[in-house]
Amino acid sequence: MNESSFPAWLAAQAADRAGRGLTRQLVHSDGERLLDLAGNDYLGLARDPRVVAGAAETARSYGAGAGASRLVSGTLSIHTELEREMAAFTGFPAALAFSTGYHANLSVVQALADSDTLIVSDAHIHASLIDACRLSRAPVTVTAHNDVAAVARALAGRSQRRALVLAETIYSVLGDAAPVAELAELVAASDAVLIADEAHALGVAGPGGRGLLAAHGLAGRPDVVATGTLSKSFGAQGGLVLGQPALREHLVNRARPFIYDTGLAPPVAGAALAALQVVKAAPELPGKARRNAAVLADAVGVAAPAGAVLSVPMPGPHEALAAVATAAEHGIRIGCFRPPSTPDGISRLRLTAHADHTDENLELAAKILRLVVPAP
Ligand SMILES: Cc1ncc(COP(=O)(O)O)c(C=O)c1O
Repeated sequence: MNESSFPAWLAAQAADRAGRGLTRQLVHSDGERLLDLAGNDYLGLARDPRVVAGAAETARSYGAGAGASRLVSGTLSIHTELEREMAAFTGFPAALAFSTGYHANLSVVQALADSDTLIVSDAHIHASLIDACRLSRAPVTVTAHNDVAAVARALAGRSQRRALVLAETIYSVLGDAAPVAELAELVAASDAVLIADEAHALGVAGPGGRGLLAAHGLAGRPDVVATGTLSKSFGAQGGLVLGQPALREHLVNRARPFIYDTGLAPPVAGAALAALQVVKAAPELPGKARRNAAVLADAVGVAAPAGAVLSVPMPGPHEALAAVATAAEHGIRIGCFRPPSTPDGISRLRLTAHADHTDENLELAAKILRLVVPAP
């Protein structure tokens, strides 16, 4: 068997990954006692009894699965209720729910971009938006991270009829905020559309967790489209596109990852709706998550982030993995990102703060983080 035959090439690739310290790992966390500073359950709602009850009650009423595409028989009143409530919460006139945030991103870009559309994409955009660009087959210009002048140049030099600008409002790995006000000004002046992924901002940023677009008065603007996930602050599963009713209608008719996918499972829609009620009734939760993030930032010597994600550069992938292992030995779970997940090739620890971390939790975390993070 030569090295390029199957499955020998899998073994060759695995050996190469292992040598460079880039082997990805599945991490089990059920039953573990580690303090979680790695997951995205920013408000601690995934196990909240009200959210779990929302899932259980919806399962009893609607069943475990939607049973078909939303266009066949899979649209249930729990979907439309979720869409109505999420649109009202975030300040957009309409919403469409997807089975994941990944599908939401694939859908909105694929349905809005074609070969006569220039996509201008930040270099640190999430993999789902990168895949969305590929699915759309539109020409793409990648700009340096948060480089508004580069976005302006790309838009000014375009030959295509339409243009989309892609950004995350709070970046998933770097944890910093996009210059959304400047980007919104640019798209308005260039007859373009801003697609802003609020996955890491909903529930942690903006008034009562309504997101960074709401914080800047941009929610509901016709040339601004938001995407989001129900799997992070809302502790459930599923994705959202938020925009104008005409956009919703277009997606229902044109977005392949929506049309050819079974509708969002009713129990997670019910869980997300219950989580939304919790967030609306406790507008202090987002501020708690951000305050806890500032405490952790202080412990590792980085600036307080815009949301709940902290990024800590490490010398290399081996050092990042070693820090994760040592932290776990001391009772805390932290995450790390290494190439190819980091477009700039820098390995990083990724820490997340949660609203339900106690002062005691934060003290322990600070102590261990000082041990595993190299001094700046
Ligand atoms: C920025 C960003 N967008 C989209 C997604 C995808 O969301 P989901 O997990 O709901 O598919 C994620 C993470 O999972 C993300 O970090």
